[in-house]
Amino acid sequence: MSQRLQDKVAIITGASRGVGAANAQLLAKHGAKVVLTDISAEGEKVAADINQTCGLDTAIFVKQDVSDEQGWTDLIAQVEQKYGRLDILVNNAAILKHASITDEDYSGWQKIMKINTDSVFLGTHAALPLLEKGNGGSIINMSSSSAIMGMPHFVAYSASKAAVRGLTQSVAVYCSQKQNKVRCNTIHPDAIATPMSMEVGMDLAQKGKNVADRTRVMNFICTPDAVANTVLFLASDESSHINGAAIPVDNAATITPPYLPNS
Ligand SMILES: NC(=O)c1ccc[n+]([C@@H]2O[C@H](COP(=O)([O-])OP(=O)(O)OC[C@H]3O[C@@H](n4cnc5c(N)ncnc54)[C@H](O)[C@@H]3O)[C@@H](O)[C@H]2O)c1
Repeated sequence: MSQRLQDKVAIITGASRGVGAANAQLLAKHGAKVVLTDISAEGEKVAADINQTCGLDTAIFVKQDVSDEQGWTDLIAQVEQKYGRLDILVNNAAILKHASITDEDYSGWQKIMKINTDSVFLGTHAALPLLEKGNGGSIINMSSSSAIMGMPHFVAYSASKAAVRGLTQSVAVYCSQKQNKVRCNTIHPDAIATPMSMEVGMDLAQKGKNVADRTRVMNFICTPDAVANTVLFLASDESSHINGAAIPVDNAATITPPYLPNS
């Protein structure tokens, strides 16, 4: 296996399952030391499996609520003490809730903004000074196709992901102007086969709602590995001139006009 991330240290949030776990596994296979964090301790097992496959001391797990400011300060201090560097931050943790503008209430809105958007501010704010000390840092923020398209049944989620995009652009320009060699990009997947999308689908089915009516008919569903490979590219020096980009991983879903004939 090639070592595209040799000597790099990465933090991946929400790494107990789904895309976050796939990210951690792939970055580790390519030579990175990976710090998995999650509010769920299931990430202990993901880290142990990585260590079994990639060698002892490749991965550690730290329990973290990404919406807690002090937790970020502590995490970055721990990483600096253990590794003396940080090269890659993947702000991946998020929650999804099925609710329209009339269904959602203010506390539900605030909860989603806190976990999905405030967390990206907190993580980027806390990590940037350490990333800047290196020779080319990469911040990868997991957004969504819902930041680009209207999603009537996921109102707070789509707003939270659009805010992540706005934050990313400003950080990218800040870093470019400061010439600190740190890059900041977003990835915008459409539906991915993970527990997040499955749980929402099951919840809708239990409520007797037609899932297809509330989402869209899709001609493919993305695998976590397809997203992780995009993360790997953005994490590596191969993407050294890509800063501020919004990369869709959606098989053209966000650019397909409705009712376009097939031929
Ligand atoms: N699944 C999809 O269809 C889809 C589509 C587009 C974008 N995304 C985005 O991809 C990313 C990964 O999604 P996934 O599908 O793997 O989700 P997932 O629910 O399978 O995994 C998310 C992880 O985040 C963790 N998490 C939740 N709240 C947390 C908190 N407060 N602090 C720390 N960790 C927390 C969960 O415990 C979980 O392990 C998310 O940012 C999501 O919005 C997912």
